[in-house]
Amino acid sequence: MKPLVLVTGAAGLIGQYVLRAAARWAPQWDVHGLTRKDVDLTDLSHVTDIYRTLNPQAVIHCAALSRTKDCEQHPEKARLVNVAATAHLATLAKDVPFFFLSSGEVFDGERGWYEEGDEARPINVYGRTKLEAEHVVLQNPRHAVVRIVLTAGTSQDGDRSFVEEMCRVATSGGLVTLFEDEYRCPLPAGVIARALWELLDHERPGLYHLGGRERLSRWEIGQALLQWYPMLTARLQSGTARSYTGSPRPVDLSLRCDKIQRLLSFQIPGFRSWLASRTEAGADLWDYPDEIREA
Ligand SMILES: NC(=O)c1ccc[n+]([C@@H]2O[C@H](COP(=O)([O-])OP(=O)(O)OC[C@H]3O[C@@H](n4cnc5c(N)ncnc54)[C@H](OP(=O)(O)O)[C@@H]3O)[C@@H](O)[C@H]2O)c1
Repeated sequence: MKPLVLVTGAAGLIGQYVLRAAARWAPQWDVHGLTRKDVDLTDLSHVTDIYRTLNPQAVIHCAALSRTKDCEQHPEKARLVNVAATAHLATLAKDVPFFFLSSGEVFDGERGWYEEGDEARPINVYGRTKLEAEHVVLQNPRHAVVRIVLTAGTSQDGDRSFVEEMCRVATSGGLVTLFEDEYRCPLPAGVIARALWELLDHERPGLYHLGGRERLSRWEIGQALLQWYPMLTARLQSGTARSYTGSPRPVDLSLRCDKIQRLLSFQIPGFRSWLASRTEAGADLWDYPDEIREA
């Protein structure tokens, strides 16, 4: 019998890719995905029952209240899901590898190109809950935290990623405003999924950054997508984060990823070189293919 990995947030953007990638990149594992329909992770006794029944040999914890705006509006709920539920799972998984997906939003974004050792100083509720959960998880020397940033991908219901959100606004006749002065290092969800599976096999716990090689403004990201998403043509308009009045947004969340890169069997791509390397129409643009042509 193969060892079992439990994947939470299995209906979420990254969870879907992690599950799909398992057949290709982790055939030595059995995988069990948990969605909200299976269990509300804030129902701790139900989680305990399920965990003890499944008795997994590793956990990839993707579930979260992942939208900054939701966390700002519901800080108590954000704490329950992002901190308390994570802490409970990490306790149940105390004897096995546990991977917690965190976020570059633990940084204030004033400087950019953050390394793992840089001081985290979150400026919004989402970032604060992620940082608090990181501290709990990293108390266990068998456990790992992987900070990611903007993830490109498509989901079953088409309502998860920033790419899907842009297309939704554009096809309903709206304009998508993209800041020229806010920077991210986007990465396809398939790359994140493959990296997580490889990291699990390395048995090297600790804190990792996993972002794209290329730092781009939101506006540049939109421009790069035009060739692949024609519905965005004439629907993108540039803007500035200085005029934004919603919840606090870090300006620059580019991440240095040398530590994880040293463990991976493939080179972490930049966003535009990833797109340039994809020539096949029809395939999922954001899934890691068996072979990749260097752009
Ligand atoms: N995507 C990004 O750009 C990005 C960037 C940085 C960090 N991250 C982190 O990466 C992880 C995965 O992100 P994602 O993009 O896949 O997020 P996502 O699409 O929002 O998926 C999160 C999943 O968690 C589930 N969930 C939320 N509360 C739950 C609860 N109480 N009980 C059970 N399930 C619950 C959600 O269920 P519902 O479907 O029912 O809502 C959803 O399926 C998260 O930890 C996120 O914070 C993501």
